[in-house]
Amino acid sequence: TSAYLAHFRVWRGDEDGGGLEDFKVEVNEGEVVLDIVHRLQATQAPDLAVRWNCKAGKCGSCSAEINGRPRLMCMTRMSVFGRDETITITPLRAFPVVRDLVTDVSFNYAKAREVPSFVPPQGLGPGDYRMQQEDVGRSQEFRKCIECFLCQDTCHVVRDHEENKGAFAGPRFLMRVAELDMHPLDAAAEAGIDRKRTAQDDHGLGYCNITKCCTEVCPEGIKITDNALIPLKERAVDRKYDPLVWLGNKILRR
Ligand code: SF4
Ligand code: F3S
Ligand code: FES
Repeated sequence: TSAYLAHFRVWRGDEDGGGLEDFKVEVNEGEVVLDIVHRLQATQAPDLAVRWNCKAGKCGSCSAEINGRPRLMCMTRMSVFGRDETITITPLRAFPVVRDLVTDVSFNYAKAREVPSFVPPQGLGPGDYRMQQEDVGRSQEFRKCIECFLCQDTCHVVRDHEENKGAFAGPRFLMRVAELDMHPLDAAAEAGIDRKRTAQDDHGLGYCNITKCCTEVCPEGIKITDNALIPLKERAVDRKYDPLVWLGNKILRR
């Protein structure tokens, strides 16, 4: 229960390069990795750059890699590590470093903008919307996303493959496409937007080979692969290989 000194190894540097620096930092009962990083700033490394806001696992800002695993620093308890263990903190590997633990995540905002937004059905006023609880529940799971981009960072399609970034939106935004495609009120098709086709052609759904690494790191426990990516793949395949299914759907909807 008493305080102890932990061995921390923290990446310092900027876009031109950098390296790991060693520190001994005090740890107290109940603390999380972000507490230790703050103590490091307060006592030994005042210019250490780190991004955070809520310290409650809700803002998605404090994403980093702890011993090589993408995690939220504020939700990683020190008690999960041995007292003798060296704890290595590095910035998210899939995104360019700004300084120290801060990365430039604008790739994700660019991908977000590429997904056409919800298209409300024509002629329905806000009070006229009716949805089944099942459909509401599905959206609600996806809406728990805090945009920490840990899933985006861990997915092997872009993690060490800068060249795939142009063609692949990543699990977080393929999940957004899935949410909208499964939304019973979305009228994108009537507006000429085929979400299944764009998932394949514009957002790179075919690059995902269901490794589920995204699901494993999601701090909100969203079943990204099982509940969003696989269903979207199934829907896209129906659409791609069976034009009659698509035509049938269109006719039935009228
Ligand atoms: Fe983070 Fe999960 Fe959202 Fe991905 S889906 S950005 S891991 S909260
Ligand atoms: Fe990547 Fe997740 Fe698919 S980690 S490969 S998006 S299942
Ligand atoms: Fe907000 Fe960690 S500081 S999620």
